[in-house]
Amino acid sequence: MSRIRNEKFRSKVMSAEQAATFIEDGSNVGFSGFTGSGYPKAVPGALASRIQAIHAAGQPFKIGVFTGASTAPELDGVLAEVDGIGWRMPYQSDPILRRKINEGVTDYCDIHLGLSGPLTASGFLGKLDTAVIEITAITEDGELIPSSSLGNNMLWIETARQVILEVNHWQSLDLYGMHDVYYQPALPPHRVPIPIVAAGDRIGQKTLLIDPDKVVAVVETDAPDRNSPFKPLDDQSKLIAGHLLDFLSHEVKVGRLPAGLLPLQSGVGNIANAVLAGLLDGPFDQITSYTEVIQDGMVDLLDSGKMTVASATAFSLSPEYAEKLNDGAAEYSQKIILRPQDVSNNPEVIRRLGVIACNGLIEADIYGNVNSNYIMGSRMQNGLGGSGDFTRNSYISSFVTPSVAKGGDISCIVPMVSHVDHTEHDVQVIITEQGLADMRGLAPRKRARAVIDNCAHPDYRPALEEYFERAQRVANSQHTPHDLRTALGWHVRFLETGSMKP
Ligand code: COA
Repeated sequence: MSRIRNEKFRSKVMSAEQAATFIEDGSNVGFSGFTGSGYPKAVPGALASRIQAIHAAGQPFKIGVFTGASTAPELDGVLAEVDGIGWRMPYQSDPILRRKINEGVTDYCDIHLGLSGPLTASGFLGKLDTAVIEITAITEDGELIPSSSLGNNMLWIETARQVILEVNHWQSLDLYGMHDVYYQPALPPHRVPIPIVAAGDRIGQKTLLIDPDKVVAVVETDAPDRNSPFKPLDDQSKLIAGHLLDFLSHEVKVGRLPAGLLPLQSGVGNIANAVLAGLLDGPFDQITSYTEVIQDGMVDLLDSGKMTVASATAFSLSPEYAEKLNDGAAEYSQKIILRPQDVSNNPEVIRRLGVIACNGLIEADIYGNVNSNYIMGSRMQNGLGGSGDFTRNSYISSFVTPSVAKGGDISCIVPMVSHVDHTEHDVQVIITEQGLADMRGLAPRKRARAVIDNCAHPDYRPALEEYFERAQRVANSQHTPHDLRTALGWHVRFLETGSMKP
């Protein structure tokens, strides 16, 4: 069956190279794509070649790149390689783009994912000129069947002046029915409550609507989503998952959580995926999830029947699981709901459902402030993604991390974080392979005791003790004592010697 079933769209089919000519220097482009799924596969590459040729002729050409989250080498990678990205938001994880950001070539706005679409619709980030959106098919009625991520696509299509569609034949037609596209007035004062009261509620429609006159090009592709495999589960991640499961079991036992828990949010990264794997052997049944991305571990939970429904905005699967999902899309549509990211990450809904949030971190300090992604304060790793949307509004907010990084040269528990993404006011629980610090209701000095005693690696615990003791001696107050002269000394030592160890 043809995937372009409406004549108005069929007449606009062209090559990626032709489509790329609609994008102009200095313009802002909203691409589909979220954690390696559902990003356009052909137009960005064609645009990169065009930019390279224009640069070779001595002319400038850079665009602003708006997406749902990270994408893949075929989008962020190729455009960054030719210095084609002048401005980027809201999240990335591409090694070439990361380098350009850290070299100062690309300006990067690290924005809460749930806010990125609404901020664009508000006009705060400038005009969106073009949307380039991957879809699975176009219906007879001219509606769009989304592909493996929904992200900001709806808002990009509504906000952009012109739209380029990529119809990807690799995406399963059985994705039809998995999406829940919710149209609401984008801007205040017209917004209304989002009527989701359970993770599995469907409140919208299966397709994206579009004004066909906005569509300037339709490009056909046949290429898989490019996702990275997760690292195999090691003893460390199993220990971290075990501590979290013990904690949740205890919360159930004392009556603070229901037996099937509350909807889970699981962040990106290997450790977060390992936590999901831990749930497979855990005591909880009838689990639900209200999260941002569906990882391998969540697919296993759905397959096992332990999880009944998973709500997200995109997939973040290994290549093997992406194929599996594609093959079984019809069945998975019964249990998986993909929503726009301003709904999946919506504070109002997260707070109402009582989501249990679990995210990765780069470093945490003794008081529980968390740095999600700024290495030694200055170097960008990925971005804070949706961790803030969930952490701030969840019922229980937790973070997971190994206690040390880089073979032990870095302690992930430090006296003071070198950048703050999540303040101590939002962070309740920190878990490393060493143990779990439950900081709910603890005043700062007690939080520090809990973090040092339970989360720090033994190699760094004496130095943290020594810092905390000195801070209480020299600080101007005993509420949150710091020794400001040495608070960031561990980071300085690492930059000077290659190790935080004294
Ligand atoms: N200082 C310097 N580098 C550190 C570090 C620290 N304190 N802690 C970790 N790292 C490095 C690791 O060595 C690794 O480096 P490499 O890529 O060169 O091997 C890298 O950071 C990633 O660490 P890893 O242990 O593999 O973590 P992960 O895959 O579990 O990811 C985050 C951890 C923090 C990077 C990831 O969770 C993230 O990007 N979080 C922010 C976004 C987010 O939370 N989104 C969820 C919203 S739903």
